[in-house]
Amino acid sequence: MKKIAMLTGGGDCPGLNAVIRAVTRRALIEGYEVIGFRNGWAGVIKGDFIPLNRDRVSGILHLGGTILGTSRTNPTDEQIETIVRNLKGFNISALVAIGGDDTLSVASRLHKRGVPVIGCPKTIDNDIFGTDQTFGFDTAVNIATEALDRLHTTAESHSRVLICEIMGRQAGWITIAAGVAGGADVILLPEFSVSLEEICAVIKQRQASGKSFSIIAVAEGFKIKGEKEVLQTDKLDAFGHARLGGIAERLCKLVEENTGIESRSVVLGHTQRGGSPTAMDRLLGTRYGVKAVELAMAGEFGKMVALRGTEIIGVPLDDVVHEVIDKKTGQSKLRLKNRCVTKELYDVAKVFFG
Ligand code: F6P
Repeated sequence: MKKIAMLTGGGDCPGLNAVIRAVTRRALIEGYEVIGFRNGWAGVIKGDFIPLNRDRVSGILHLGGTILGTSRTNPTDEQIETIVRNLKGFNISALVAIGGDDTLSVASRLHKRGVPVIGCPKTIDNDIFGTDQTFGFDTAVNIATEALDRLHTTAESHSRVLICEIMGRQAGWITIAAGVAGGADVILLPEFSVSLEEICAVIKQRQASGKSFSIIAVAEGFKIKGEKEVLQTDKLDAFGHARLGGIAERLCKLVEENTGIESRSVVLGHTQRGGSPTAMDRLLGTRYGVKAVELAMAGEFGKMVALRGTEIIGVPLDDVVHEVIDKKTGQSKLRLKNRCVTKELYDVAKVFFG
């Protein structure tokens, strides 16, 4: 019997269970045996998996998180060999790797070693090159938008500046989408640095026009002009990512000092990754899962499912990765290309600043 395996790697996000259910249901129709490795690449290395059948994936579509568990395991060269060996040993005819930049860059390495892999782009950050959207993004945007809506009333009651820090690493997609939808008065993104003076000028101008409060949506990766990004710790994670966080608090202090208006900061943090996926993310995850199995059936390995316009297509993983220098080891490694917020979209947002 043909066997299809899947895993979820990296930070979790809403919609993962929709993909797991879709891959399982589509594969069962074709008579595949289906298994799920637990906790990302760690499960393949340890040979830790669970069988997936119709019952196991029933009632999970609306649930956040992942029934398979996840981890940020970055396999060493030796562990890559173990993964290749284990997948052969388990007689896997296709592996669907559901993850973001980190998980898919490992998938791409495995593809070069002849592993029959299909990638599925997951992340709230929406920063994966080659697809118009990742699942998880829409839910995060809705959570952040609701937060901005709620901040408006309390900011207005107290005549304060409220600064809301939004996730996304080096991409400002969640911040710009929620910032525009939630009517933020200033939107600050990693892609476009802005000086403190420019930020405060907008707030002062609002005050002069009779608006006693302001809402600032700031991406965790935003840099004040002339400053570095704000980190929670100097330590890097297994894939060499810095832990961002603290820009809202820093801005809060500076804005209050500079404008004289009482200010508060709010960090949305992991609330943006938790809870039930939106209908949009359930649908996108479902379409991705079905397409992943269809690519496997057609023998189109080494591809990532992707949204282009309204179509779901397969794009070669080779087209979405590039070589970069690892900050930890100084050696060259494969990473996914980043997709950043465009100037055109930022210019639309800027119409509503102030
Ligand atoms: O990549 C998704 C993401 O939520 C980023 O937006 C955020 O910077 C990071 O993961 C947080 O990672 P962790 O779950 O390790 O705290």
